[in-house]
Amino acid sequence: MSSNKKKFLLEGKTKKIYTTDNKNEIIIHYKNNITALNGLKNKSIQDKGMINNAITTLIFKFLNSCKVPTHFIRKINPIEQLCYKVNMFPLEFIVRNIVYGSMSKRLGIKEGIIINHPIFEIFYKNDALNDPLINNHHAVFLDIISYKELNIIHNISSNVNTLLKEYFLNKNIILVDFKIEFGKYKNNKILLSDEISPDTCRLWDKKTMKKLDKDIFRKNGDDIMDIYMEVLKRIG
Ligand code: TMP
Repeated sequence: MSSNKKKFLLEGKTKKIYTTDNKNEIIIHYKNNITALNGLKNKSIQDKGMINNAITTLIFKFLNSCKVPTHFIRKINPIEQLCYKVNMFPLEFIVRNIVYGSMSKRLGIKEGIIINHPIFEIFYKNDALNDPLINNHHAVFLDIISYKELNIIHNISSNVNTLLKEYFLNKNIILVDFKIEFGKYKNNKILLSDEISPDTCRLWDKKTMKKLDKDIFRKNGDDIMDIYMEVLKRIG
Protein backbone atom coordinates (compact mmCIF):
# COMPACT_ATOMS: atom_id res chain seq x y z
CA MET A 1 0.00 0.00 0.00
CA SER A 2 1.12 3.54 -0.47
CA SER A 3 0.39 7.13 -1.22
CA ASN A 4 -0.22 9.12 1.94
CA LYS A 5 2.87 11.27 1.34
CA LYS A 6 1.83 12.73 -1.98
CA LYS A 7 4.40 15.11 -3.54
CA PHE A 8 4.04 16.98 -6.80
CA LEU A 9 6.44 15.64 -9.45
CA LEU A 10 5.44 17.05 -12.83
CA GLU A 11 2.58 18.42 -14.88
CA GLY A 12 1.58 17.78 -18.48
CA LYS A 13 -1.21 19.14 -20.65
CA THR A 14 -3.92 16.92 -19.19
CA LYS A 15 -2.39 15.26 -16.14
CA LYS A 16 -0.36 15.91 -13.01
CA ILE A 17 1.96 13.32 -11.53
CA TYR A 18 2.68 12.93 -7.81
CA THR A 19 5.19 10.69 -6.08
CA THR A 20 4.04 8.55 -3.17
CA ASP A 21 5.79 7.14 -0.12
CA ASN A 22 6.50 4.07 -2.24
CA LYS A 23 9.25 5.00 -4.71
CA ASN A 24 7.94 2.51 -7.25
CA GLU A 25 4.46 3.99 -7.43
CA ILE A 26 2.99 7.30 -8.58
CA ILE A 27 -0.38 9.00 -8.50
CA ILE A 28 -1.77 10.20 -11.81
CA HIS A 29 -4.19 13.10 -11.45
CA TYR A 30 -6.55 13.70 -14.40
CA LYS A 31 -7.03 17.42 -15.05
CA ASN A 32 -10.11 18.91 -16.67
CA ASN A 33 -8.11 20.22 -19.64
CA ILE A 34 -8.64 19.11 -23.18
CA THR A 35 -6.07 20.06 -25.82
CA ALA A 36 -5.56 19.80 -29.56
CA LEU A 37 -3.03 20.97 -32.14
CA ASN A 38 -0.14 20.19 -29.78
CA GLY A 39 -1.60 22.35 -27.01
CA LEU A 40 -2.47 25.38 -29.18
CA LYS A 41 -6.10 24.69 -28.42
CA ASN A 42 -6.60 24.18 -24.70
CA LYS A 43 -9.79 24.33 -22.70
CA SER A 44 -10.93 23.31 -19.23
CA ILE A 45 -14.18 21.35 -19.15
CA GLN A 46 -16.00 20.46 -15.96
CA ASP A 47 -15.82 16.76 -15.00
CA LYS A 48 -13.57 15.86 -17.93
CA GLY A 49 -10.81 14.56 -15.63
CA MET A 50 -13.28 12.43 -13.73
CA ILE A 51 -14.73 10.90 -16.89
CA ASN A 52 -11.34 10.16 -18.47
CA ASN A 53 -10.06 8.67 -15.23
CA ALA A 54 -13.14 6.45 -15.10
CA ILE A 55 -12.83 5.34 -18.75
CA THR A 56 -9.06 4.72 -18.53
CA THR A 57 -9.59 2.74 -15.32
CA LEU A 58 -12.16 0.45 -16.95
CA ILE A 59 -9.96 -0.13 -20.00
CA PHE A 60 -6.77 -0.77 -18.03
CA LYS A 61 -8.62 -3.11 -15.64
CA PHE A 62 -9.83 -5.04 -18.68
CA LEU A 63 -6.31 -5.17 -20.16
CA ASN A 64 -4.83 -6.24 -16.81
CA SER A 65 -7.42 -9.03 -16.67
CA CYS A 66 -6.17 -10.13 -20.12
CA LYS A 67 -2.58 -10.25 -18.77
CA VAL A 68 -1.38 -7.24 -20.74
CA PRO A 69 1.55 -5.75 -18.74
CA THR A 70 0.34 -2.28 -17.69
CA HIS A 71 1.29 0.38 -15.14
CA PHE A 72 -2.23 0.52 -13.69
CA ILE A 73 -2.70 -0.55 -10.05
CA ARG A 74 -6.04 0.97 -9.03
CA LYS A 75 -8.25 4.02 -9.08
CA ILE A 76 -7.94 5.86 -5.77
CA ASN A 77 -10.56 8.58 -6.14
CA PRO A 78 -12.69 10.10 -8.94
CA ILE A 79 -9.79 11.98 -10.50
CA GLU A 80 -6.72 9.97 -9.49
CA GLN A 81 -5.22 6.54 -10.01
CA LEU A 82 -2.26 4.71 -8.51
CA CYS A 83 0.22 3.35 -11.06
CA TYR A 84 3.67 1.81 -11.20
CA LYS A 85 6.37 4.39 -11.76
CA VAL A 86 8.00 3.89 -15.15
CA ASN A 87 10.52 5.72 -17.29
CA MET A 88 8.47 6.76 -20.27
CA PHE A 89 9.84 6.40 -23.78
CA PRO A 90 9.33 9.76 -25.53
CA LEU A 91 7.37 7.94 -28.24
CA GLU A 92 3.73 7.65 -29.24
CA PHE A 93 2.66 4.36 -30.81
CA ILE A 94 -0.34 4.57 -33.11
CA VAL A 95 -2.35 1.60 -34.33
CA ARG A 96 -4.77 2.09 -37.23
CA ASN A 97 -7.67 -0.09 -38.36
CA ILE A 98 -9.35 2.49 -40.62
CA VAL A 99 -7.69 5.30 -42.61
CA TYR A 100 -8.32 8.65 -40.94
CA GLY A 101 -6.62 11.79 -39.63
CA SER A 102 -2.93 12.34 -40.29
CA MET A 103 -2.47 9.12 -42.26
CA SER A 104 -5.15 10.14 -44.73
CA LYS A 105 -3.57 13.59 -45.18
CA ARG A 106 0.01 12.33 -45.36
CA LEU A 107 -0.64 9.64 -47.96
CA GLY A 108 -3.58 11.21 -49.80
CA ILE A 109 -5.81 8.22 -49.07
CA LYS A 110 -9.55 8.68 -48.61
CA GLU A 111 -10.77 8.65 -45.01
CA GLY A 112 -12.79 5.61 -44.00
CA ILE A 113 -10.98 2.89 -45.95
CA ILE A 114 -10.64 -0.28 -43.88
CA ILE A 115 -7.09 -1.46 -43.20
CA ASN A 116 -7.05 -5.24 -43.14
CA HIS A 117 -3.63 -5.59 -41.56
CA PRO A 118 -3.35 -2.96 -38.77
CA ILE A 119 -0.81 -0.23 -39.44
CA PHE A 120 1.66 0.70 -36.72
CA GLU A 121 3.30 4.12 -36.57
CA ILE A 122 5.79 5.73 -34.21
CA PHE A 123 5.84 9.44 -33.40
CA TYR A 124 8.74 11.10 -31.60
CA LYS A 125 7.42 13.23 -28.72
CA ASN A 126 9.27 16.47 -29.25
CA ASP A 127 7.28 19.73 -29.11
CA ALA A 128 10.01 21.74 -30.85
CA LEU A 129 9.88 19.35 -33.82
CA ASN A 130 6.08 19.06 -33.68
CA ASP A 131 6.14 15.33 -32.85
CA PRO A 132 7.43 13.93 -36.17
CA LEU A 133 6.59 10.51 -37.58
CA ILE A 134 9.67 8.28 -37.34
CA ASN A 135 10.44 4.59 -37.86
CA ASN A 136 12.15 1.90 -35.76
CA HIS A 137 15.59 2.78 -37.08
CA HIS A 138 15.25 6.47 -36.21
CA ALA A 139 14.12 5.57 -32.68
CA VAL A 140 17.12 3.27 -32.15
CA PHE A 141 19.50 5.79 -33.73
CA LEU A 142 18.18 8.50 -31.39
CA ASP A 143 19.14 6.18 -28.52
CA ILE A 144 15.60 6.17 -27.19
CA ILE A 145 14.93 2.45 -27.34
CA SER A 146 16.38 -0.87 -28.57
CA TYR A 147 15.14 -3.08 -31.41
CA LYS A 148 14.30 -5.75 -28.84
CA GLU A 149 12.16 -3.31 -26.86
CA LEU A 150 10.44 -2.11 -30.04
CA ASN A 151 9.64 -5.71 -30.86
CA ILE A 152 8.08 -6.24 -27.42
CA ILE A 153 6.05 -3.03 -27.83
CA HIS A 154 4.91 -4.07 -31.29
CA ASN A 155 3.63 -7.39 -29.91
CA ILE A 156 1.85 -5.74 -26.97
CA SER A 157 0.31 -3.09 -29.27
CA SER A 158 -0.96 -5.74 -31.64
CA ASN A 159 -2.51 -7.68 -28.76
CA VAL A 160 -4.06 -4.51 -27.29
CA ASN A 161 -5.57 -3.74 -30.69
CA THR A 162 -7.13 -7.20 -30.99
CA LEU A 163 -8.48 -7.03 -27.44
CA LEU A 164 -9.82 -3.48 -27.63
CA LYS A 165 -11.39 -3.90 -31.07
CA GLU A 166 -13.53 -6.68 -29.67
CA TYR A 167 -14.08 -4.92 -26.32
CA PHE A 168 -15.49 -1.84 -28.07
CA LEU A 169 -17.39 -3.81 -30.70
CA ASN A 170 -19.28 -5.48 -27.86
CA LYS A 171 -20.45 -1.95 -26.94
CA ASN A 172 -21.35 -1.16 -30.57
CA ILE A 173 -18.27 1.00 -31.01
CA ILE A 174 -15.74 0.74 -33.83
CA LEU A 175 -12.11 1.28 -32.82
CA VAL A 176 -10.78 3.30 -35.75
CA ASP A 177 -7.30 4.03 -34.37
CA PHE A 178 -5.57 4.83 -31.10
CA LYS A 179 -2.39 6.09 -29.51
CA ILE A 180 -0.59 4.31 -26.69
CA GLU A 181 2.59 4.96 -24.72
CA PHE A 182 5.00 2.70 -22.90
CA GLY A 183 7.54 2.97 -20.11
CA LYS A 184 10.11 0.83 -18.35
CA TYR A 185 9.52 -0.30 -14.77
CA LYS A 186 12.38 -0.63 -12.24
CA ASN A 187 13.15 -4.18 -13.41
CA ASN A 188 13.26 -2.97 -17.05
CA LYS A 189 9.94 -4.64 -17.76
CA ILE A 190 8.02 -2.74 -20.43
CA LEU A 191 4.58 -1.62 -19.26
CA LEU A 192 1.72 -0.08 -21.21
CA SER A 193 1.31 3.31 -19.51
CA ASP A 194 -0.46 6.68 -19.78
CA GLU A 195 -4.19 6.70 -20.60
CA ILE A 196 -6.60 5.12 -23.08
CA SER A 197 -9.73 7.23 -23.48
CA PRO A 198 -11.72 9.16 -26.12
CA ASP A 199 -8.82 11.66 -25.97
CA THR A 200 -6.44 9.04 -27.37
CA CYS A 201 -8.68 6.83 -29.54
CA ARG A 202 -10.97 7.34 -32.51
CA LEU A 203 -14.26 5.68 -31.63
CA TRP A 204 -17.28 5.57 -33.95
CA ASP A 205 -20.78 4.39 -33.20
CA LYS A 206 -21.24 1.14 -35.13
CA LYS A 207 -24.76 1.92 -36.36
CA THR A 208 -24.65 5.65 -37.06
CA MET A 209 -20.86 6.13 -37.50
CA LYS A 210 -21.22 9.12 -35.15
CA LYS A 211 -17.88 10.19 -33.64
CA LEU A 212 -17.51 9.43 -29.93
CA ASP A 213 -14.08 10.98 -29.33
CA LYS A 214 -11.87 14.07 -29.29
CA ASP A 215 -12.34 14.70 -33.04
CA ILE A 216 -15.51 16.56 -31.99
CA PHE A 217 -13.31 19.02 -30.07
CA ARG A 218 -10.62 19.08 -32.77
CA LYS A 219 -13.30 20.11 -35.27
CA ASN A 220 -14.67 22.88 -33.01
CA GLY A 221 -17.56 21.06 -31.40
CA ASP A 222 -17.70 22.14 -27.78
CA ASP A 223 -20.14 19.87 -26.12
CA ILE A 224 -17.94 16.82 -25.91
CA MET A 225 -18.75 15.76 -22.36
CA ASP A 226 -22.10 14.23 -23.37
CA ILE A 227 -20.19 12.13 -25.88
CA TYR A 228 -17.50 11.04 -23.40
CA MET A 229 -20.28 10.20 -20.91
CA GLU A 230 -21.91 8.08 -23.60
CA VAL A 231 -18.65 6.09 -23.99
CA LEU A 232 -18.39 5.70 -20.20
CA LYS A 233 -22.00 4.49 -19.97
CA ARG A 234 -21.48 1.94 -22.73
CA ILE A 235 -18.31 0.43 -21.28
CA GLY A 236 -19.21 0.92 -17.60
P1 TMP B 1 -3.65 11.11 -36.08
O1 TMP B 1 -4.52 10.60 -37.18
O2 TMP B 1 -3.85 12.58 -35.80
O3 TMP B 1 -2.20 10.75 -36.29
O4 TMP B 1 -4.11 10.37 -34.74
C1 TMP B 1 -4.14 8.96 -34.65
C2 TMP B 1 -4.69 8.54 -33.30
O5 TMP B 1 -3.81 8.90 -32.26
C3 TMP B 1 -6.03 9.18 -32.95
O6 TMP B 1 -6.82 8.21 -32.29
C4 TMP B 1 -5.68 10.27 -31.99
C5 TMP B 1 -4.44 9.76 -31.31
N1 TMP B 1 -3.48 10.79 -30.95
C6 TMP B 1 -3.26 11.10 -29.63
O7 TMP B 1 -3.85 10.51 -28.73
N2 TMP B 1 -2.34 12.07 -29.33
C7 TMP B 1 -1.64 12.74 -30.28
O8 TMP B 1 -0.80 13.60 -29.94
C8 TMP B 1 -1.88 12.40 -31.66
C9 TMP B 1 -1.15 13.12 -32.76
C10 TMP B 1 -2.80 11.43 -31.94
